[in-house]
Amino acid sequence: MNRVYIKTYGCQMNERDSTAVAEMLRARGYSIVWHESEADIVLLNTCSIRDQSEQKAIGKAGHLAKRKRANPDFVLGVLGCMAQNRGADLLERLPDLDLIVGTQKFHRTPQHLDHLIASMLGQGPHPSPIVDIEQEEGSLNTIRSHHPEIHKVSAFVSIMQGCDMNCAFCIVPKTRGSERSRPMEHVVDEVRSLVDAGTREVTLLGQIVTNYGKREYRSSKGKTPFVQLLEKLHGVDGLKRIRFTSPHPLGFGKDLVQAFSELPKLGEYAHLPVQSGSDRILRAMNRPYSRDRYLRLVDSLREASPNMHFSTDFIVGFPGETEDDFERTVDLFERVRFEMAFIFKYSKRSGTAAVDMPNQISRDTKERRNQTLLRVLEKQSLRRNRSLVGSVQEILVEGPARKGDGMLVGRTRGYRKVIFPGHERFIGEILDVRIHGATVTALNGDPIIDGSSVKHPEPMPA
Ligand code: 5AD
Repeated sequence: MNRVYIKTYGCQMNERDSTAVAEMLRARGYSIVWHESEADIVLLNTCSIRDQSEQKAIGKAGHLAKRKRANPDFVLGVLGCMAQNRGADLLERLPDLDLIVGTQKFHRTPQHLDHLIASMLGQGPHPSPIVDIEQEEGSLNTIRSHHPEIHKVSAFVSIMQGCDMNCAFCIVPKTRGSERSRPMEHVVDEVRSLVDAGTREVTLLGQIVTNYGKREYRSSKGKTPFVQLLEKLHGVDGLKRIRFTSPHPLGFGKDLVQAFSELPKLGEYAHLPVQSGSDRILRAMNRPYSRDRYLRLVDSLREASPNMHFSTDFIVGFPGETEDDFERTVDLFERVRFEMAFIFKYSKRSGTAAVDMPNQISRDTKERRNQTLLRVLEKQSLRRNRSLVGSVQEILVEGPARKGDGMLVGRTRGYRKVIFPGHERFIGEILDVRIHGATVTALNGDPIIDGSSVKHPEPMPA
């Protein structure tokens, strides 16, 4: 009765929330299984960013509902953003759901499952379905635990949640609520204990991380609370890299730009969501910056740290986007030389400002623009990767590569993926790797030991 499978859709925050729920469930005596077929309880941790994301989870839940009808003791739950967005209305489409848990209630999941199981065993009133999507003060701090079984080289750390920006396309303010941040000391303590358990890289998570602590802390000596947090974390011994996502371009003031030249653990990488290269569309999206300002920001980051690598988010087919607007987007894409990007086809989200805007763009046009940007992305990614052939890169070794015996995978300081031969004892270490090959998505190389590249580094001095 207590084997749980959690399927996660969407962003890193969702992954991190699922991990936290899994840890809480384990602590409560549930076991986490890695195959749906072995589970008595299936929880879908969902995403609402686009309609397609919701439809995927609804389809999956509909499929699982058949299992529920055949076996009434099977428990089916929906967690996270779609639960928050649709609440009890989900029951119209999915009447067999036992559990609907919103984004501020993840920590209640074990308790709800206990109740559901007790009532199935006849030890309580039948409470199914349970719908729990209210706001909860302080819920941000309820899911922090470091189960010793899960020590990863690279870990996600939530620092804030919610977003008050009001972008015309975006449902996140509805699904994740308004901005609130965790206390700095909690974050630093969490990172310290992760590092004690073997973590070497943290990715700080939030819907708009650059607004971290704006309500809770003051800027000091020209430094925003976010930069203050980065500086504190930079001082944690044993932590080798700090990354963060997602920031807002407006959050990159002088202090954060300067941080890239002063805090080496930040590496040479920034994710900088731009959404469009057209001022007209940026205005319609309610993104309060111009393409010029964005380009200046990229320049200043390259000045602070010349080898910066940039990734971004783009939306194609926002209402009213003309060919001319789209060309500006392609132009910006090429000027910045993005080498990693998430490209989204605009999706109507109810309750957002853009949903009723005139001149919605046809599916075909969105698809064509999407393909055009993907081709530019491929070209630029390959070009940058090729430019690294022959260089020596500092790699944080993350783990065994998915394919290939004896191969490891790691990332450069610029967040490019590298595959190279090596022993598993190097996992978690920083190694110098000489790059000898490049594809669109990855680099290949050989580690350098004692100043020379070695093809097959086993056995190697420890
Ligand atoms: N349609 C398409 N993409 C969207 N995003 C957010 N809302 C929408 C939407 N309605 C994209 C943005 C954001 C990323 C997380 O998802 O590019 O940066």
